[in-house]
Amino acid sequence: MRRFLIAALLAAVAPVSVHAASVITADRYLDVATGRYVEHPAIFVGDDGRITGISDARTVRFSDAIKHIDLPGATLLPGLIDMHVHLTSLAEIGGYRGLQYTDNFWMAVGVANAGKTLDAGFTTVRNVGSANFDDVALEQAIDGGWIAGPRIVPATYAIGATGGHCDDNALPPSYDKKQVSVVDSPAEARAKVRWLHKYGAKVIKICATGGVFSLGDSVGGQQLSLEEMKAIADEAHMLHLKVAAHAHGDEGIRDAILAGIDTIEHASLANDATIQLAKAHHTWFDMDIYNDDYILATGTSNGTEQESLDKEKMIGLKQRQTFQRAVRAGVPMLFGTDAGIYPHGQNARQFAKMVEWGMTPIEAIRAATISAGQALGQAEDVGQIAPGRFGDMVAVKGDPLQNVRLLEHVDAVVKGGKLVARTVPAP
Ligand code: ARG
Repeated sequence: MRRFLIAALLAAVAPVSVHAASVITADRYLDVATGRYVEHPAIFVGDDGRITGISDARTVRFSDAIKHIDLPGATLLPGLIDMHVHLTSLAEIGGYRGLQYTDNFWMAVGVANAGKTLDAGFTTVRNVGSANFDDVALEQAIDGGWIAGPRIVPATYAIGATGGHCDDNALPPSYDKKQVSVVDSPAEARAKVRWLHKYGAKVIKICATGGVFSLGDSVGGQQLSLEEMKAIADEAHMLHLKVAAHAHGDEGIRDAILAGIDTIEHASLANDATIQLAKAHHTWFDMDIYNDDYILATGTSNGTEQESLDKEKMIGLKQRQTFQRAVRAGVPMLFGTDAGIYPHGQNARQFAKMVEWGMTPIEAIRAATISAGQALGQAEDVGQIAPGRFGDMVAVKGDPLQNVRLLEHVDAVVKGGKLVARTVPAP
């Protein structure tokens, strides 16, 4: 029987290894679907960057024609996915200070931020809002191989109401400036989705309620109507795009769920009935619960307005308590951090917060891998180490299911079967 198994394995291995461009070996990898480790993997990746097969490394003879990335002692996990980043924002510059910089400054720092994010183990990010189609530019530059960075799902401009979280509210009327993505009716909302899609949006981001860093609005106040959100969701879904709604206040969260929005960002003040509604509709919650630590510790030193700090003090703790209730209730949860509020590259710090507030380590890891792949509509591409998926993975030493903080310092990052970052020298 045993000999038959090995023969069968070898037969299965031989053809895949011929077509593979690289093979990655390590002590074990985490199968996030089952939550179990698989020992001694040899993960073959083809020219197209996708995994062609996984064998037991002890049964494989490695050919010189294939690049061998050997990571002895390492535990592999799927490349991490952050569902809420702003690569063209900086934590170090807040409030009115941003007005001192020229428009393309944000694109320049965005290039560096993309590199930091990839080095931190995040091989896919959803960029939910940037100006000037900067995130489409980053996506094109990364996919073309000119700069290093994660796979990017760009939202481009976030759609919002006049005077709302996604408008420009920092100036007096004599300097009247309206964000190009502002809409004030269902018809305008529909047209805006079409326009963003035309220029490269692969997800639609909307601002359903007020926010912490927008000036002059109530953080919990609803800003887009149910009808506007329905128009956006219908139009986006017709185009096979998902919709992410920034929403702190309960009413805005509820209407977003009823409108058919796919992911609720922040979800800070959702009450129990709304949590049940999210569960019933299978609406994902994507809650940035690390942020509060950074925002309160930094205070106004980065230029953040006192008004924003006051709002943060109102919602920070409540958001974490809502997270705990949502996890307990069984709402489908994602890993999204709002990177750019805190420094890029520190994304993985949120794992420990998610465990502190009620998740098991495997649940937190799933939120950043298999669940994220599903919520992106890219479950066949990212989120698992499995045949057909991109060969995206991170290596850590030790057991992240015991200590999720190990993910804060990954030893190696592989994207599309290529070693893109290695922070410790090979032994
Ligand atoms: N972009 C969000 C806003 O301005 C950040 C919220 C951060 N605070 C938090 N507790 N998650 O509303």
